[in-house]
Amino acid sequence: MKIIGINYLSESSVCLLVNGNIINAISEERINRTKNWYGLPRKTIDFILKKNNLKAKNIDYFVTSGLSSITNDMPNKYAISKKIEKIENSKLKKKIKLKQINFLNKRSEHENDVINKRTKKLINKLKNEFGEIVVYDHHLSHAASACYSSNFKDCICLTIDGWGDNSSAKIFTFSKGKLKEISSTPTIDSLGYFYGSITKLLGFKPHQHEGKVLGLAAYGDYKKAKNDIYPMISYDNKKKKFNGNYEKGLYQATFNNRNLKYLTKKYSKKDIAATTQYTLEKVVLNCVKNLSKKKINLALAGGVFANVKLNQKIKDLKNIKDIFVFPNMGDGGLAVGCAQLCYYDKIKKIPEKIQNVYLGSKFNDNEVLKSIRKFKLQYSSLKNIEKKMAYLLSKGKVIAHFNDKMEFGPRALGNRSILCSANDPKINVTLNKKLKRTEFMPFAPIILKDYAKDYLKISNKDLETYKYMTLTCFCKKKMNKTSPAAVY
Ligand SMILES: [Fe+2]
Repeated sequence: MKIIGINYLSESSVCLLVNGNIINAISEERINRTKNWYGLPRKTIDFILKKNNLKAKNIDYFVTSGLSSITNDMPNKYAISKKIEKIENSKLKKKIKLKQINFLNKRSEHENDVINKRTKKLINKLKNEFGEIVVYDHHLSHAASACYSSNFKDCICLTIDGWGDNSSAKIFTFSKGKLKEISSTPTIDSLGYFYGSITKLLGFKPHQHEGKVLGLAAYGDYKKAKNDIYPMISYDNKKKKFNGNYEKGLYQATFNNRNLKYLTKKYSKKDIAATTQYTLEKVVLNCVKNLSKKKINLALAGGVFANVKLNQKIKDLKNIKDIFVFPNMGDGGLAVGCAQLCYYDKIKKIPEKIQNVYLGSKFNDNEVLKSIRKFKLQYSSLKNIEKKMAYLLSKGKVIAHFNDKMEFGPRALGNRSILCSANDPKINVTLNKKLKRTEFMPFAPIILKDYAKDYLKISNKDLETYKYMTLTCFCKKKMNKTSPAAVY
């Protein structure tokens, strides 16, 4: 059975699933070279069909996410009216009350527009081109990507992002291939928007540069802005939902939250970043701690789980056996999740676990040579490229490594990676300058599996978890000594 999963949201992407195996998963940005591109990933669909000698008529099912545009289900209307009631009964000044209520009413209109006009139009466009389209819920697709790709037979799944269909977070149980929804947090209580609005406030691009806030947080003091930022959002254990505390006057589910402006006058950027990271961790950990008293396996997906520090803290909780974060945790991963859901629904077989994320484009030697000649580059052909790389790294050289299939997801995992020796801490400054990255952005180490335990405080069973660079861990003294450039 051949299935094509399509994501048209930010980081548009396509997945080809054959008999439950992911054959290709590629984001359109890697083909059209526009970062975070969104819309129908037409070029990637053609690329994948061509590379696999397929035509659209050979595909059994075309699948996507965005179910609420078909069901016309708008539960957020109820959530918004409850929220407005709370604001009206609060002690806020009349002017701020009005501001918060106006925001919620506008937000409701905006969501209606996106779901009932923009999403509907895109799904109809797909129908016109490919015939029948199978459509799943956004967060269910996130959850499927994490659960079906993990090693877990049973687990709990948590998805958190900015906004998808009618939710910003969902909790599921996963057992024998089936996902069951436990709770859904409305879009107006979004943790993704909470973190993204601070990203924008600090002068970075929201929905793209959240990692910079995390990087900056390491230099700040979370206690400084705690009184202002911490009350913005919380977790309600009774309802099993996150809660944007509008009645406290600051929180809004938008990147462009003008209520926050005074924070930059009162606190330094690094302290705001530190308090934001602290708040995110506290709120999500509160949720995970309360998922179960027994030890559980936890599958995670959604853009918020790009936060490697948060993921480490989740993994270290007492009630957690193990975690699995889908390597393309953002909306790019939806193409995989919805294709896997369709496979399970149609033949009741559990899709195959993900083996690696080298699921993208691959070029043979002739194609590489053609490009080298086109751009008149100097080259030499080597039999043992690894030996030469080791020699160059030992001499302090920086290597751009292009090998085999491209990675799917935000992390470069060796096939399209920039490599250098980690024994000189100054290399970070040089590299960040060359790559035009912010000066405090970290680099991740790459270590042979057999030696990982000598350098990192991890156990044997953790080795699989760290494979996809989805969480941080603590270092041993040996790492500090030999590889200071990769210790933060
Ligand atoms: Fe999402």
